[in-house]
Amino acid sequence: MTLGDNVDVVAPKKWMDGWDKIYSQLLQKTDDELARVDVGHRVQQLEHALAITETNTIGLKVLELGSGEGNVACYLAKLGCKIVAVDALASAIAVAQRKTKILGLFEQIEFRLDDMDGWPIPANNYDIVIAIQSLQYLFDRTIPRLREAMDAVQPGGFFVYSGNILPHFETDPPIRFISEEEIRREFKDWTLHAFGTEEILRKPDDLRGYVWLIARKPMIHK
Ligand SMILES: C[S@@+](CC[C@H](N)C(=O)[O-])C[C@H]1O[C@@H](n2cnc3c(N)ncnc32)[C@H](O)[C@@H]1O
Repeated sequence: MTLGDNVDVVAPKKWMDGWDKIYSQLLQKTDDELARVDVGHRVQQLEHALAITETNTIGLKVLELGSGEGNVACYLAKLGCKIVAVDALASAIAVAQRKTKILGLFEQIEFRLDDMDGWPIPANNYDIVIAIQSLQYLFDRTIPRLREAMDAVQPGGFFVYSGNILPHFETDPPIRFISEEEIRREFKDWTLHAFGTEEILRKPDDLRGYVWLIARKPMIHK
């Protein structure tokens, strides 16, 4: 498969190269291996929130920023959602498109090779916006883009956020962690369906903190 050109982004090249290596390795896998769609508890909690709010998932409009290998997009497409998923790496888009084809979900997902920042997101346009482990790589644009992405959610729609917090190894430049307090403040008018923090030991001497939320926008947004 021929890959297109990667999109230039603010994240350092060596970080993008690290993800590119992972996605390029995934491209070597068989169709059976790629057909596995593993999503973490954040997406399971979104599914629970959709169920308890009796939200019909058929045709829901979803925007995913930094969609990586496409597991979340494929999972939501299986529930009937229509997704626009954006990532700046051609290898990520290629894996995601291959998964989509294998799973027969092509008509429901548009994978866009693009920067997740730098273009207007129409306000009140999506039923769900997802930013899992991605917005923090926009540095000084992290909070402004978070707010633009929040504006893009329709009243009664959902936002899924996940990002790192301390403890975390030092990086250069520093990742723009959105702290637990900040994320609560940003979503203070929204209904929190899930909110959590955790620490995961990725490998010896690499303990990482995470914060996530599933939040629902008020029906009448102030
Ligand atoms: C830690 S990975 C997370 C991927 C996916 N959300 C997940 O949870 O598996 C970060 C992703 O963000 C993408 N990324 C980083 N900066 C980006 C930017 N400015 N625009 C689009 N994608 C970007 C990377 O290519 C990578 O796929």
